[in-house]
Amino acid sequence: MTSKKSFKPDRDLADLTGKVVFVTGSNRGIGLQTVKHLARKGATVYLGSRSEEAGKAAVSQLEKEGIPKGRVIYAWCDFSTTGKAKETGEKLLGQIDRLDIYVLNGAMYVVGFLDSCEAIEDPLLPDLLTANHFGNLRLLQILLPLIEETSDKYGEARIVTVSSMAHTLSRAKDPDIQFKTPDDFRQDYGPGGGFRGAFAYYAVSKLCQQMTHTVLHKRNKHPNLIFISVDPGMVNTFSNTFLITRILSPIINLFFDSPEVGAYNTLFAAASPKVKEKRDKYDGKFLTPVGKLTPVGANVTLEKAEEMLETSQAFLEKEDMFPLLPRGGKEGAASSSS
Ligand SMILES: NC(=O)c1ccc[n+]([C@@H]2O[C@H](COP(=O)([O-])OP(=O)(O)OC[C@H]3O[C@@H](n4cnc5c(N)ncnc54)[C@H](OP(=O)(O)O)[C@@H]3O)[C@@H](O)[C@H]2O)c1
Repeated sequence: MTSKKSFKPDRDLADLTGKVVFVTGSNRGIGLQTVKHLARKGATVYLGSRSEEAGKAAVSQLEKEGIPKGRVIYAWCDFSTTGKAKETGEKLLGQIDRLDIYVLNGAMYVVGFLDSCEAIEDPLLPDLLTANHFGNLRLLQILLPLIEETSDKYGEARIVTVSSMAHTLSRAKDPDIQFKTPDDFRQDYGPGGGFRGAFAYYAVSKLCQQMTHTVLHKRNKHPNLIFISVDPGMVNTFSNTFLITRILSPIINLFFDSPEVGAYNTLFAAASPKVKEKRDKYDGKFLTPVGKLTPVGANVTLEKAEEMLETSQAFLEKEDMFPLLPRGGKEGAASSSS
């Protein structure tokens, strides 16, 4: 573990020359800072943004700030619906032939949810859960074979899930939570549920991300592929949203980290040489800033996580009739090793 004050991306990250990175939702916030530092270590980084304008503006901003070694390339990335997530993955696969580091960073937060609850592909599942869990899962499913291949061919690849301590809060900590049907994901909270309902959705979406990470790590058959999930800490990526929070920014900044510091834990997981050196220590684990091993929420049991993923996959398969991630159990072991 390194303190936030002593972590220095320039010094503490491996050289990434020749590596290809994709960071979702990285036109602003923690993702943007993640892109900056990974590119500065020499990587070719695809900056994912659902808005072309915002994505290209972010690339220009980073170029002005200075990327002396690597490269930053805008990539359209939208996981608002599973259809868009699929298109995002397919487009990216048309641009790259290796993927060394995949950072699942972008997410819809409560504020965005309250602002823009729009119609979604499946009326069962409100936007936030669709984006943060189902959309992310669909995208990961499309990119996973290339990441696995990269790990085999080049000796290392990493998948970093930017999760949150929120996966231990609200409805995500309910010991009776279950994921037997798509309806179980949403329970009683809807767009009309206000902040409490929106936060419950966010917490469950982060629980699902955490569970996905856990199951995929468990099922992984590729010796050089590393899975890490992280919490970035309390990061001020929101004070520009409202006039009142803009005014209160100086006070907010006393309690929250800047997006730059908020990226440190992701950066550690994505590119610290310590992770490779001590793979047994870090692979499959959940880290709080910076690089601190932290127990996951009580609901992240393998059994419950398998149930969640099975239900999610059945839901997604029904949607586009496409086989998803390798299944668990005997059948899964056979198919994933073939
Ligand atoms: N900030 C914190 O204190 C904190 C704490 C714990 C965990 N986290 C996690 O850290 C990650 C980054 O958070 P942040 O604070 O940097 O967030 P942020 O500033 O709100 O940025 C979120 C990013 O995700 C993108 N995004 C949202 N919905 C999307 C969708 N449906 N499809 C594609 N892109 C989408 C946004 O794009 P647009 O610009 O187009 O909206 C933006 O680029 C998230 O996973 C969050 O849950 C943050």
